[in-house]
Amino acid sequence: FFADAEAIWLFGYGSLIWKAEFPYQERRPAHIEGWARRFWQGSHDHRGTPENPGRVVTLVESPGSICQGMAYRIGAEVLGPLDVREKNGYLRELTLMHFHDGSHAEGLVYLATQDNAAFLGDAPLDDMALQIATAHGPSGANRDYLLNLAAALEDLGAEDEHVVALADRVRDLRSMAR
Ligand code: BEZ
Repeated sequence: FFADAEAIWLFGYGSLIWKAEFPYQERRPAHIEGWARRFWQGSHDHRGTPENPGRVVTLVESPGSICQGMAYRIGAEVLGPLDVREKNGYLRELTLMHFHDGSHAEGLVYLATQDNAAFLGDAPLDDMALQIATAHGPSGANRDYLLNLAAALEDLGAEDEHVVALADRVRDLRSMAR
């Protein structure tokens, strides 16, 4: 009982979908409503460098949109280390996550708003794709982050036009480079 009282849901919509490097009690596909996933956050510490920042996902408010992802039931003590991992401008928000069986639960999500220093915002698709195709950081190639996310969403049966369009463009750039 005590353990459950201390457990919370965390909604992942980026690398947390395929890379959960923390202990969890349960993992369930879920979606949130009113938010859209966008590669609008700069990454100078994970998928890029200060000189060549990469682009990673954040959520932007978008009435009528849904964002598919993965919900994790975690012990509250897991949040401290996660906050460290997800630094670089992300804050925690409370959100309602909807599970595929129609049930829902309140939980946390990390998002980076436009007032954080690393926020990049929108740009032409080709510019974003070129930036992602060429950025590398301590966590690896920005391209791999995007393609892993695209594959993880496909595994979930989730449709995300923004991610699919960027992944297609980044694959085109690679084949052009051969
Ligand atoms: C996510 O997968 O939900 C996520 C990962 C890193 C930072 C923010 C969100």
